[in-house]
Amino acid sequence: MKPFCFAKQHIIPTDQASIHPIDIGLIRGYAIFDFFRVEGYRPLFLEGYLDRFVASAKSCALPLDYSRNDIRDLVETLIEKNDMEQGGIRMVLSGGISDNKFSPANGHLYIFCEPLKLPSQLKYENGIQLLSQEYLRPLPEIKTTNYTLPVWLSLGWANKNAEDVIYHHGGIISESSRSNIFIIKEGEISTPRANVLRGITRKNILKIAEEVQERDIAFSELLDAEEAFICSTTKRILPVTQIDGQRIGQGKPGKITRSLMEKIEQLELQDRAHAN
Ligand SMILES: Cc1ncc(COP(=O)(O)O)c(C=O)c1O
Repeated sequence: MKPFCFAKQHIIPTDQASIHPIDIGLIRGYAIFDFFRVEGYRPLFLEGYLDRFVASAKSCALPLDYSRNDIRDLVETLIEKNDMEQGGIRMVLSGGISDNKFSPANGHLYIFCEPLKLPSQLKYENGIQLLSQEYLRPLPEIKTTNYTLPVWLSLGWANKNAEDVIYHHGGIISESSRSNIFIIKEGEISTPRANVLRGITRKNILKIAEEVQERDIAFSELLDAEEAFICSTTKRILPVTQIDGQRIGQGKPGKITRSLMEKIEQLELQDRAHAN
């Protein structure tokens, strides 16, 4: 963690940040967060993350006592104080402490600056494996802090040479634990339309790809795809070359995936140039 954070209304040393144990963020898993990258001392695609953070707070009836401008200023101050050229910024809004220990209350805003490394070059070159998991994420469009199932599942991933999971329900895929998914079949790019977090990276891919179908995608279509990839803030675009031990397409990153990997890096550079 970087040395300074925002907690309980002040910029303070990160090792002094605290939360009350009875906050419903902890005892009920009721809290929201968001996470974005910093490159060259600038947040990338900040407005999209602010939109989503404000929307998550509203959907969860959690009062956010800070305007977008306040948050922008805090982020800028933290980047400066932490001399943060590159990394990740996590905003958390806790559920607060309520009399009945259940209802949403007045939570606290926290902003942490964290070191962040993208996945290894080998993963981008060879692709990764996902394991299928029957599951429908609760409140999928809200960025809640509830990741209990995948944290528990992750205990077994290394032994199975897997990077993550792909959720499906009633035969339809939705997303990975912290990423959205796209498939390519006969040159056509598709991504699940429902029961997913509206990822900022997903949104950027919808912008840079020529045409994308947002639709229900059967798990069998994923297994049959020519190419597949997951995408997120912390991964950009990561090719998926195996599901449950079964090879996807040629078992290596495909042409359309590789072209989108290049285009997303270009888009980041454009955003950085625009911010300067
Ligand atoms: C469940 C879930 N889906 C998708 C994503 C990808 O979203 P983004 O591209 O905004 O990082 C995340 C990111 O953490 C996530 O937690």
